[in-house]
Amino acid sequence: MSESRSGSAGAGLALPARGRPGPESFKWPRPPTAGVGGGGVRIGVLTGGGDAPGLNAAIRAIVLRASSLGHEVLGYEEGWKGPLEGLSRPLAPADVEGALDEGGTLLLTSRTNPFKVESGPARIAANLAAAGVGALIGIGGEDTLGVLAKLSDLGTPTVGVPKTVDADLSATEYTIGFNTAVTVATESIDRLHTTARSHQRAIVCEVMGRHAGWMTWASGIAGGAHAVLVPEEPFDVDEVAAMVKRRFAAGKRWAVIAVAEGAAPQGGAEVLQHGAKDAFGHVALGGVGAWLAAELEKRTGVTTRHVVLGHVVRGGLPTAVDRLNATRLGAAAVDAAHAGAFGTMVALRCDEVVRVPLQEAVGKLRTLDKPRLELARMVEGLD
Ligand code: F6P
Repeated sequence: MSESRSGSAGAGLALPARGRPGPESFKWPRPPTAGVGGGGVRIGVLTGGGDAPGLNAAIRAIVLRASSLGHEVLGYEEGWKGPLEGLSRPLAPADVEGALDEGGTLLLTSRTNPFKVESGPARIAANLAAAGVGALIGIGGEDTLGVLAKLSDLGTPTVGVPKTVDADLSATEYTIGFNTAVTVATESIDRLHTTARSHQRAIVCEVMGRHAGWMTWASGIAGGAHAVLVPEEPFDVDEVAAMVKRRFAAGKRWAVIAVAEGAAPQGGAEVLQHGAKDAFGHVALGGVGAWLAAELEKRTGVTTRHVVLGHVVRGGLPTAVDRLNATRLGAAAVDAAHAGAFGTMVALRCDEVVRVPLQEAVGKLRTLDKPRLELARMVEGLD
């Protein structure tokens, strides 16, 4: 793994002490519009895939850092649809005022895959050139950054910023939105305890997380769920039912079970909303909570309800952690572009911002490891 500290310029490319960078500061081609705004470079930015709290904080930081270095920012709207169809608008510091704590993404998003569109990559290259974009920052998860990595291989100067509430990107310990999503899910699980206890019920809480159980694991443990079921480890329905029965027999007459939407019972498969696939080949998951609640009620005789948190975890205000880290990563992405460190993603490791190869981030899904899975088993059934 190669990495370098963000903020330090690439070899031999010293950042100017202040004011606008000189031409020698850039490895990337100066776009036709260079000189507009006094000699800076136009940086394109887009957000793709599912929205996540903290995206606007990252966009704000990109605009503010770019402006302080004398560059312009062109915001592409609706994910990859933006550069594909030329949907864009300039973003100046005044346009991002108040964006720090706003949920969602002011640039809008979509799950468009340009590699599934005829001449998609060529159209993007042509639109970027026509707009005078000299660097493209993509903020997203495995799909959005996967496209960015492929475009980078084709010669587009790109920098990635990690975002996903699923936290399943490799090469970084932090992704924008995860902290807020876990905070919301934890509070929801907290609330389920009191109502489950009052009614002497079991409640199954279905949490987002397609291929990796990070959000369910973190909120399940932090929220004191009595079982934490994740995609990494198929679960045994009889074991979960036995845990509920044990609790009721011991006089603890309630149970809360956290289950990831992508978790599957042993010998079974994930529960799908429908069979349709999105542009990246993903099926829409959902329904395991309802299925499990019915199975548990049948096996235990305990009244069992289910709740699907769904998109609630992605909405609303970002936490302080997401605001802060999104700001750090957004600024670092501009620094990477400024230094000519293309084909990289800015990442957090040991609370330091580093640059990692984009390919490393998207090459392999980051899933829960054994010690974390063991921790979830340790607290099973306990208060
Ligand atoms: O990838 C993030 C995520 O929130 C997954 O956890 C979930 O499966 C998916 O997006 C939902 O996608 P959509 O917003 O398209 O319904």
